[in-house]
Amino acid sequence: MPACAAPAEGEEAGMVISALETMKMAVVPEIALESDSTDDGRFTVIGRGLKMHPDCQRARLSVWYRGDGTDKRIYEVSVSRNGSCRAQDSVAWHDHHFGSYHLQLSVVQDETEKTVAVSEVNLNARNYAYAQATDNTGSAVVLHVIRPCIGEQDARSVQAVVESSGKESDRIRVPLTRIDDQMWEATISSTSFALDGDYEARLYAGAVELADLNFRMIRPAPHKGAKAVALTFDDGPGRKTGKLIAQLKKYKSHATFFVVGKNASKYGVVLQTMKEAGCEIGNHSYDHPKLGNASAEEIEKQLGSTNDVIRKYTDREATLVRPPYGNIGASLRENAQAPLILWSIDTRDWETRDAEVTYDRVLKNAKDGDIILMHDIHAESVTAALKLIPELRKRGFELVTVSELAALKGVKLDNGASYRSLK
Ligand code: NI
Repeated sequence: MPACAAPAEGEEAGMVISALETMKMAVVPEIALESDSTDDGRFTVIGRGLKMHPDCQRARLSVWYRGDGTDKRIYEVSVSRNGSCRAQDSVAWHDHHFGSYHLQLSVVQDETEKTVAVSEVNLNARNYAYAQATDNTGSAVVLHVIRPCIGEQDARSVQAVVESSGKESDRIRVPLTRIDDQMWEATISSTSFALDGDYEARLYAGAVELADLNFRMIRPAPHKGAKAVALTFDDGPGRKTGKLIAQLKKYKSHATFFVVGKNASKYGVVLQTMKEAGCEIGNHSYDHPKLGNASAEEIEKQLGSTNDVIRKYTDREATLVRPPYGNIGASLRENAQAPLILWSIDTRDWETRDAEVTYDRVLKNAKDGDIILMHDIHAESVTAALKLIPELRKRGFELVTVSELAALKGVKLDNGASYRSLK
């Protein structure tokens, strides 16, 4: 069992008080105060080298908390003729504040008190409390602090500061609640974090750090009923698409890229990266004509040649079509041979070319089941998406492909039918 109070370092513990020559009451050669503590948080102060003058009536020890000076306790101590004195505190340390305590030994003669030695002892909460993480089911982790030695004043703000280990800041604060005298607890949902992986938690009572611990949080795959949206990116790939895929990977997220064949043929490696990252590649025609009422041959040529490019680099074809300009007609419904995917949030990022506006439009409007339209050929849109991915994760959204969203929501996608959202 760790001790609540740590003995002060030897060199700091003892110090001789000056002006001995002015003191007629006691002769005090090389006096030192040593403090010691036991497992239950009690402490002993021992003075050595103290030689009491025969006229001295008594010695006493004062103890007070350095922080505010209000916690003063005074103990009478006896001093033996062989030069040592001993004081034992009968109050457990963990009823006190944590931090630095001031000890002062003085002798009294004729109602006059003179200080002969001072010392400090540090009461360190970290030596006493410990923390553990349990029930990490993948959807939540429960943090416990055991024997936290919390003073009444600090009990009002017991909290954990949790952040991801070795990654860019993904920090949250969680209040702990008192279970009993020995235990405080907090439950943290996995959706509180943008990232999966290793986390560090530091637990505080007020400004006092009680304990720390590490735990791992790995989210389960999105389950039916999860809050989810599909980010979709049209007209690419472009120069920044690789960066976007890396961000999606980092946050265990997926998106759907509705590529145009003309660009896809220039970015074969990027198509492979999309596939490896679990993203979906959709068909947005070869060179972006209106296809709603185009001839069957034109539709077949536009979609077929794009599929050829996608297949060349990924060994599979697109199963979803996004009509250029959202233009749908009877001919496309009949000849697309794929579900037609529209959108419920149009960022109009191509028009504003402003990362902040795009970011705000998505965050302000995103709801469960939304399909969000952006364009990865524009640098500003990628900038917005790089910020949106962690922020949407923090807000509890799963970021999934259109096909994954349909599966999550139990929606069967039919060829020739069009979809704006999946709920
Ligand atoms: Ni387009």
